[in-house]
Amino acid sequence: MAPATKALYKQVFPVKSDLESAGKVSTEVRRILRSLGVEPEVVRRAGIVCFEGEMNIALYTKGGRIILIVRDDRVELLFSDRGPGIADIDLVKQPGYSTAPDWARELGFGAGMGIPNMEANSDRFAMYSRVGVGTVIRATIFRRCHETCGGNRAPGT
Ligand SMILES: Nc1ncnc2c1ncn2[C@@H]1O[C@H](COP(=O)(O)OP(=O)(O)OP(=O)(O)O)[C@@H](O)[C@H]1O
Ligand SMILES: [Mg+2]
Repeated sequence: MAPATKALYKQVFPVKSDLESAGKVSTEVRRILRSLGVEPEVVRRAGIVCFEGEMNIALYTKGGRIILIVRDDRVELLFSDRGPGIADIDLVKQPGYSTAPDWARELGFGAGMGIPNMEANSDRFAMYSRVGVGTVIRATIFRRCHETCGGNRAPGT
């Protein structure tokens, strides 16, 4: 496999363990991607992936961070948190599985669709977790112009 191209843009966003500012990172990520001229469909998918990952960090963890990396051919989102970790990754990937508490369900969370939606909107999706330590998710979305926007293209075409 060809190595990933050089990062055009990289930013780290801390995510707190509360809902007060939850959603801000995904709004900012969408804004950044649009301003970089990333294809609207890629911005849309990255926005969904980012929002769901951000909400899960805010709701279920002690806090963490999201790293946005934009390359010529792809957008990468890396989520990491400080625990509690996930014992059964296959289980949390199942549509409908949720441990959201009642107060979160009253706010509209808890359909158990966040991680399935993250996976469905990513071209590559990997989750690693260690109970008592934390969880890392890497989501990759390939850009539409992957084949045609590379260095081989003649200027103006
Ligand atoms: N970063 C995380 N650390 C620990 N547990 C997590 C993390 N993210 C998700 N989970 C667990 O996985 C379950 C499924 O997550 P998912 O995002 O798919 O659904 P949900 O958050 O419960 O509901 P929805 O996202 O549809 O509002 C959560 O209920 C929670 O138990
Ligand atoms: Mg969720």
